Amino acid sequence: MFSPLNRPIRGWSDRKVWIIGGSSGIGAAVGRALLARGARVVLSARDRGRLEEVAAGASGAIVLPFDAGDAAAWQVAAATVHTMEDPVDLLVYCAADYVPQRVWDVRAAAVSKTLNVNLAGVYFGVEAVLPRMLERREGGIALVASVAGYMGLPGAAVYGPTKAALINLAELLYCEVARRGLGVYLINPGFVATPLTAKNGFRMPALRTPEQAAEAIVRGLERGRFEIHFPKRFTLVLKAIRLLPQRLRLKLLMRLVRA
Ligand SMILES: NC(=O)c1ccc[n+]([C@@H]2O[C@H](COP(=O)([O-])OP(=O)(O)OC[C@H]3O[C@@H](n4cnc5c(N)ncnc54)[C@H](OP(=O)(O)O)[C@@H]3O)[C@@H](O)[C@H]2O)c1
Repeated sequence: MFSPLNRPIRGWSDRKVWIIGGSSGIGAAVGRALLARGARVVLSARDRGRLEEVAAGASGAIVLPFDAGDAAAWQVAAATVHTMEDPVDLLVYCAADYVPQRVWDVRAAAVSKTLNVNLAGVYFGVEAVLPRMLERREGGIALVASVAGYMGLPGAAVYGPTKAALINLAELLYCEVARRGLGVYLINPGFVATPLTAKNGFRMPALRTPEQAAEAIVRGLERGRFEIHFPKRFTLVLKAIRLLPQRLRLKLLMRLVRA
């Protein structure tokens, strides 16, 4: 009953991993960790210079900059990746846009930017890699969501709902493709010190470094976990809050807003 939901990944040296959002923070740290383990890693994000810094000195790194929120750019990027000799074994979708804000501060015109990279881009990525993986009956897709998707956390007016959607998507994707031999991984980090969270104006409990996050992610992938969440002392508390009756949970979240 407690066997892992995915096949454990044993060894990285013969694998090609495509990381979307690999120029900083968690994506860059996962890229470095996998390169150190001998994987071939295609690093994508918009900023070529920062991607090249992550790739520096690693013979297995390939830099492929593009905007993951743009469907046309995905077509070009996917064509490039598919002309490379070996297929993509694992897509790690890490890219995200985050604006800490309350709902009354949300400007409709800016919403599409976050929706495009946090959600639409995931569908573009799945479309780019899934058909070949289904053909080979091999490969995996890892979606980096967030504990912000567990429930409606105040202050994440657009970001939070996109992460809730990714949790939903990872679950349905698993149900649809696991029996066809593919792995699906849902990654829900707690707070990690990156440029994304540098925007937060509050004390972040159980804050981790990107390197610690990458170790937890790589370990989870190797063990074949479906949901990879960390640090447990923080995520398990949130999971317990999620189980509360809605009335109690909302009261608790409202106290959080006052705090
Ligand atoms: N840090 C945390 O505490 C935390 C907690 C839970 C979940 N997460 C999730 O972890 C993932 C990584 O976040 P992070 O904290 O490492 O943030 P980060 O350092 O800001 O990294 C975000 C990455 O996304 C890329 N990106 C943004 N917009 C893009 C676009 N339109 N096209 C392509 N790439 C784009 C950025 O590169 P460019 O700017 O070069 O494009 C960067 O590589 C995100 O999905 C985030 O939601 C983070």
